[in-house]
Amino acid sequence: MSPMSDPTPAPRPDATSARPHDRELDVVVLGATGFTGRLTAEYLARHAPADLRWGLAGRNAEKLAAVRTQLAEIDGVDPSVADLTLVAADVEDPDSLRALAERTRLVVTTVGPFLAHGRPLVAACAAAGTDYLDITGEPEFVDQVWLDHHAEAEATGARIVHACGFDSIPHDLGVRFAVGELPDDVPITARGVVRASAIFSSGTMHSALEQFARARPMSKVHAARRKAEGRPEGRRVRGVAGKPHRDRTLGYWLVPLPTIDPMIVVRSAAADASYGPAFTYSHYAGTKTLRYAAGGAAATGLLATAAQVGPVRRALLSRFPVGQGPDEKRRARSWFTVDVVAEGGGRTVHARVRGGDPGYTETAKMLAESALSLTYDDNPEVAGMLTPAQAMGEHLTARLQAAGMTFEVL
Ligand SMILES: NC(=O)c1ccc[n+]([C@@H]2O[C@H](COP(=O)([O-])OP(=O)(O)OC[C@H]3O[C@@H](n4cnc5c(N)ncnc54)[C@H](OP(=O)(O)O)[C@@H]3O)[C@@H](O)[C@H]2O)c1
Repeated sequence: MSPMSDPTPAPRPDATSARPHDRELDVVVLGATGFTGRLTAEYLARHAPADLRWGLAGRNAEKLAAVRTQLAEIDGVDPSVADLTLVAADVEDPDSLRALAERTRLVVTTVGPFLAHGRPLVAACAAAGTDYLDITGEPEFVDQVWLDHHAEAEATGARIVHACGFDSIPHDLGVRFAVGELPDDVPITARGVVRASAIFSSGTMHSALEQFARARPMSKVHAARRKAEGRPEGRRVRGVAGKPHRDRTLGYWLVPLPTIDPMIVVRSAAADASYGPAFTYSHYAGTKTLRYAAGGAAATGLLATAAQVGPVRRALLSRFPVGQGPDEKRRARSWFTVDVVAEGGGRTVHARVRGGDPGYTETAKMLAESALSLTYDDNPEVAGMLTPAQAMGEHLTARLQAAGMTFEVL
């Protein structure tokens, strides 16, 4: 893609071009031996249509076979799950990733931290015209993938969709949902406010600590992408950091939240003129009292500072053994809400997305439903790196509503 090009998505090459349609499998889940990947495989085992041709991939054949056996033993799951295809794939072995990408129409991965482990798989999928979904929350990874593989994916027809978990589907689809209530020819200012009660898995702690340690390279890669990607023609779309304050509409204290979510929301807005001629987005955590807001900001700051010191970061990481996370009881008590307040043309829309355990139960649901949407729904025929809203907007929203997540205008 040429410098300063318009970020409007490219049409997907049709069946006569590079993108092959005949593959042995529709979907393969890589990372199913880990905490989130296993929940994703379990969701597919319970909810995938009987004609979905899917399988599990990983580097340890024994562990993978054990996961498959356990899936087949779940009450109500079709026992034929015991015959799911298993694919040997190690992210350190590019040949195994190429073979995986050429065998299936879509790869779903939960192997993170993604900056450390994710790039070879995206490379294999972009080259093979294979769709790719992940649950990264790492902006540097997403920007680097855009620089390295977006143009190739556009050419082969691969849809590369990052952040298909709690990062960033509720925010991305929630903002799209709220903006859809406003006229599309007026400037729109939106804010997203997250509230949640939940705890994190080891994999998430590893990704968060690695990310805090890389603030400088992250902003360098982001600047390189912005320069190459350009801006939408005739429209202004931007993310604004915002300041801590009390929100009168919501009644919460808001603290700016520097997650990947605003980057995804702004990219969706840049690609879709229905977000209006001028679109501004700010992203916050919301708490009921000032004391909680201050405590949350201080704890995040402390963790970010500790992550800068190599030995301290490694000591922290060693406290979170791989593959562990909150148990079913704890997950059942967890919840999240994402409030979106969008203002434009003299109107204010307050929309809310809500669901259960954000990090794992709902993340597995969002990732698996994204896989089903890309496989079965009549989504826009566009290719390259896409946001969830761009790739699957209305279909994924409908699927998540049917699966128990709420999208409502208050
Ligand atoms: N965005 C969100 O909302 C969200 C939510 C949850 C999690 N996450 C992210 O998802 C990632 C996974 O979290 P988790 O808790 O599920 O982690 P986890 O339990 O540690 O699982 C990691 C998985 O990666 C696999 N793996 C590691 N190295 C590999 C290699 N060389 N080749 C192939 N597979 C390899 C592991 O396989 P083995 O069993 O063989 O070791 C395991 O299946 C983290 O980055 C986390 O931040 C994001």
